[in-house]
Amino acid sequence: MASFFITTAIDYVNGLPHLGHAYEKVLADAVARWHRSRGDDVFFLTGVDEHGQKVQQSAQKRGIEPKAFCDEMSGHFRRLCEGLGTSHDRFARTTENSHKRVVRQFLQQLHDAGDIYFEQHEGFYSVRQEQFVTEKDMVDGQWPEIFGEVLSMKEPNYFFRLSKYQDWLRKHAEDHPDWIYPAFRRNEVLGALEKPLGDLCISRPKSRLAWGIPLPFDEDYVTYVWFDALVNYVSFSGWGEPGCRWPADVHTIGKDILVPAHGIYWPIMLRALGIEQPKHFLVHGWWHLRGEKMSKTTGNVIDPLELVDRYGADAFRYYVLREMTVGQDADFSPENFATRYRSDLGNDFGNLVNRAISMIRRYRAGIVPAAAIEPVVKEAISEARNGVAEAMDNFETHRALERIARLTQRGNQFVDERAPWKLAKDPAQTAALDSVLATLAETVRILSILVEPFLPSTAGRIQQQLGMDQRETRFDASTPDGLLAGRAVGEPQPLFPRME
Ligand code: ME8
Ligand code: MG
Repeated sequence: MASFFITTAIDYVNGLPHLGHAYEKVLADAVARWHRSRGDDVFFLTGVDEHGQKVQQSAQKRGIEPKAFCDEMSGHFRRLCEGLGTSHDRFARTTENSHKRVVRQFLQQLHDAGDIYFEQHEGFYSVRQEQFVTEKDMVDGQWPEIFGEVLSMKEPNYFFRLSKYQDWLRKHAEDHPDWIYPAFRRNEVLGALEKPLGDLCISRPKSRLAWGIPLPFDEDYVTYVWFDALVNYVSFSGWGEPGCRWPADVHTIGKDILVPAHGIYWPIMLRALGIEQPKHFLVHGWWHLRGEKMSKTTGNVIDPLELVDRYGADAFRYYVLREMTVGQDADFSPENFATRYRSDLGNDFGNLVNRAISMIRRYRAGIVPAAAIEPVVKEAISEARNGVAEAMDNFETHRALERIARLTQRGNQFVDERAPWKLAKDPAQTAALDSVLATLAETVRILSILVEPFLPSTAGRIQQQLGMDQRETRFDASTPDGLLAGRAVGEPQPLFPRME
């Protein structure tokens, strides 16, 4: 059994989750479920990023202790995952002791090796980006909006020798063309490596930021947020224990945290620590609302759980995965959501399932006939299976859903062409009707397997209606045509009922 380890970014708990966070979790979940359906031994890690200035400030504004604030806020992110039906194996919180221990151990190791040094630093600091910025980052003499508040800063701090590993990283990025998906984003990393890398400030004096992990070699300082956050991928992988899951196969992240955090800091930290590199980054774009990035900081957001309450988790998952071309930006539109729900899910997909099951009940007393699958449909099924596999192995969820939509349309077209209601009236057409119904049962059976990564609860309901058991729901389970022959189908349920 192949092992597969996938992560999401860990979300800052300084504000409530929005549709952008929900998308990332659903994207990673679809990939995780796809691998499970292939029989892989999957470990799916998600969680929250609880330390740092933003969280400390948000807690202060509320007038409560940071720990109490984090407990409350991380609950919202946990409930988001539940609401979305994600199949994560571990929900990481960076305030857990086991994590803090690993962060301190790594810092000590790098300090002992001489890769962390102490120095006076003068410069500017962006609170929103949690990083030092320089005058070069100004646009027309102003700090760009993305930096939020920028403070002038003069204080001694600890620095990590990024520069020492720059040549190694350039070579690593060049030697691994499939390291970053989509491929064009690798150029952003290579581009950033064209100029000399400065070293990375990894500390804050406790007097200024109390809410962080103390440095093991200087307890008057806490570690800077990225050093703490990135390590979660290792510290929650069972590090130091038998069966540890590191290295990750896929880090799922948004495009804003590829450069420099995941594309530069993280590989260099791992290299300096002598730890294996992650195999791939899956970098998605941004959800926009009314033409602007959805963002906790600006409040330009859609609450994903409101959509889940109204339409169901599967409809939400379907919309975001179908609408966004992985790697590109997309605009959220409530009208578009409603249309996809009504048309793609209700009129096309739900209708096909409903027709197939209803007709087997009506014309064959609910027993799937033993008959050959019609070749045209058999071919469409095989194309869909191959197309979905190819798309998912490239993380292209939108394309996988297109292939599924094509098979669904083919199924509905087949019903219209063969008009089973006419065949049912003609006793000479008994065998033909058997074959049409067996073909429909087979189409719906395969569709239920193909949609599982995207519509897990719908897939389960269909499989239950078809009387399938657990072993028959895997993608690579053998697919004898006659698998369902003689099975009794259940009561058809409306999968995507009409909305007011
Ligand atoms: O960056 N559309 O946390 P975060 C799509 N704690 N994705 C979006 C988005 C949008 N409008 N807005 C945010 C952090 N995201 C760090 C990560 S990982 C070791 C530490 C995505 O809460 C964003 O790109 O600001 C990121 O991948 C994730 O949500 C968390 O963002
Ligand atoms: Mg952010």
